[in-house]
Amino acid sequence: MKTLIVLPLLFAQIFCISDRELFNKGKDMLNQPEKLRNMLESGDLDSNMIGPICNRSLLSWAAQKGLPIAVETLLQYGANVNFRDRKKRKTPFMIAVDFGQAAVAKLLMNSGTNLSLMDLNGLNGYDYMRKCNCNL
Ligand SMILES: *[C@@H]1O[C@H](CO)[C@@H](O)[C@H](O)[C@H]1NC(C)=O
Ligand SMILES: *[C@@H]1O[C@H](CO)[C@@H](O)[C@H](O)[C@H]1NC(C)=O
Repeated sequence: MKTLIVLPLLFAQIFCISDRELFNKGKDMLNQPEKLRNMLESGDLDSNMIGPICNRSLLSWAAQKGLPIAVETLLQYGANVNFRDRKKRKTPFMIAVDFGQAAVAKLLMNSGTNLSLMDLNGLNGYDYMRKCNCNL
């Protein structure tokens, strides 16, 4: 009787863990533009992959870390510039501003970021532009 309950849980855990590893692999690639491009090109990595823990996109991680080449590469391979994490509803542009990543904030703004989208607190992209000390 116990096995019947434990087995599905075990499977769920295994899948969750592998999912997580895959996402971490994607995050590691952000620092290695050439590998990132190769993985996106070969289909080993989905440019719109969402992390299972915080529901954050790879693009939002690249924005947070301030990695313009990774941002450009992900966008080139179809990453959604307006994807908002499920928790705080922030676009990658908003995240770049939050983390003081001026160059990436600018890049995202010039790449079709919708400044009318609002985060969970009702602030939109224009509010973030005012918040940003980055000469946008
Ligand atoms: C992430 O998304 C999943 C599936 O939609 C959801 O069950 C989970 O609560 C979300 N986690 C966070 C931290 O928002
Ligand atoms: C931008 O977001 C606003 C608010 O959600 C929406 O009404 C508008 O259609 C969007 N604009 C584009 C170009 O998608």
